[in-house]
Amino acid sequence: MLFIPLLGGCEAPYSTLSPVGPSAQMAANLWWGMFALFSLVMVAVIALWVIAHRRDPGRQSPDQQQQVQQRWIIGGGLMLPLASIIVILAFGIPAGHRMLPLPLDDGEPLVIEVTGHQWFFSVHYPEHDINLVDELHIPAGVPIDVRLKSADVIHAFWVPRLAGKVDMIPGHTNTLRLQADAPGVYRGHCAEFCGTRHAHMQFHVHAHSAQDYAAWLSETAADD
Ligand code: CUA
Repeated sequence: MLFIPLLGGCEAPYSTLSPVGPSAQMAANLWWGMFALFSLVMVAVIALWVIAHRRDPGRQSPDQQQQVQQRWIIGGGLMLPLASIIVILAFGIPAGHRMLPLPLDDGEPLVIEVTGHQWFFSVHYPEHDINLVDELHIPAGVPIDVRLKSADVIHAFWVPRLAGKVDMIPGHTNTLRLQADAPGVYRGHCAEFCGTRHAHMQFHVHAHSAQDYAAWLSETAADD
């Protein structure tokens, strides 16, 4: 029960365990599933260890002893890890697939281009010719494709409460499908060491209601 006070940290702005989007939700579900599975494995291993210590070895011939040993090696050393890996992959692979920027059933996602620099993020809205630094504005409740690039070294784009992290690689574009289920301000951070000011390379994602987003768009586009 020692970990329970630590769970207070899960409400923090960078917590993947307080997801506000479908992709982050899937990652959180996987985390809890693996936590439950491996807790179970740990309890089982400790129980077997205690039983082994208390058990009376009895009188077995060397042949019988070897047979018992082999059974444990095949069962515990091969079958059990194999079964655990199959269970994890059975959930992990489909979850990972659903996080990909797959074509949508209806329409195209909004595209925002984000470029990593030492040490800031430049943000560009190709359809509206809006340029920002270290902040993104998105409508809540709809999928967004964030096109990730780098102007110098490798950075990584990560908004823990909205989606997984994706690298920003020079000369290459990666696409991250991101969605905020509720309006709010979500913190993001560069997640790849990129130089002396890496620790300060942070940004904010402002998710607005459809109405507020439209208002923000017309206001910002007019300013430009
Ligand atoms: Cu950019 Cu670390």
